[in-house]
Amino acid sequence: MHAVGIVAAAGSGLRLGAELPKALVPLGGRPLVCWAVESLRAGGVEQVVVAVPASQQAAFTAVLPADVQVVVGGDTRTASVRAALAAAREHVSDQERTAVLVHDAARPLTPPDVVARVLAALAGGARAVVPVLPVVDTTVVVDADGVVTADVPRAPLRRVQTPQGFDRATLVAAYAHAHGTAAEFTDDASVVRAAGIPVHTVAGDERAAKITVAHDLRMAELQTERLR
Ligand code: CTP
Ligand code: MG
Repeated sequence: MHAVGIVAAAGSGLRLGAELPKALVPLGGRPLVCWAVESLRAGGVEQVVVAVPASQQAAFTAVLPADVQVVVGGDTRTASVRAALAAAREHVSDQERTAVLVHDAARPLTPPDVVARVLAALAGGARAVVPVLPVVDTTVVVDADGVVTADVPRAPLRRVQTPQGFDRATLVAAYAHAHGTAAEFTDDASVVRAAGIPVHTVAGDERAAKITVAHDLRMAELQTERLR
């Protein structure tokens, strides 16, 4: 199966609070976006399209490998992925089914095994697949005053990571379906599920954790020191 990767890297990283857009922040001396592109490739993805902030195109082009396509993202993650998906059209294979893997630049240390598991599930016939992890903490619902109102049985709960993999035609149709609706989506699997398509799961990995706040970056630095 032919595989194209999309890296969502057009966010500003407000919660991280760095001077650079989050995807350009260095980890072990390399921008986060470069790590994310590298794990997709190491896991079997052939071409990669990266969505970047409009004001930072040159900075991204300067750090990314020359064969990575850079496109301008949008105001939301969904808009950024939509732009990259349109650009990815030119990487579609005539001979075989094309898989699209959508990944966050903010998950730099995703092991290639996770990418390979997603690709294997698609090759096995799934149209949509996400890597997931169990919820280990007790999980509750609170009211507006922060008072606990209910326990949530956690056995069926999962935390969803990226890369999320899709049959390309399925993802394109789901994004077309979502267009014009007022719904807000935080990931691509919810766009696909809103179009009525079942989303399958494979095992994620704690190392694919998302870098959101400064503490996450420090933890990732410790991990890369161990890798060196
Ligand atoms: N993203 C994007 N386009 C946007 C917003 C986010 O491509 N308009 C990307 C980010 O670059 C990131 C991923 O989506 O790789 C996950 O988003 P998040 O962790 O929320 O990153 P930011 O939006 O950059 O961070 P913050 O919400 O703290 O500003
Ligand atoms: Mg964000």
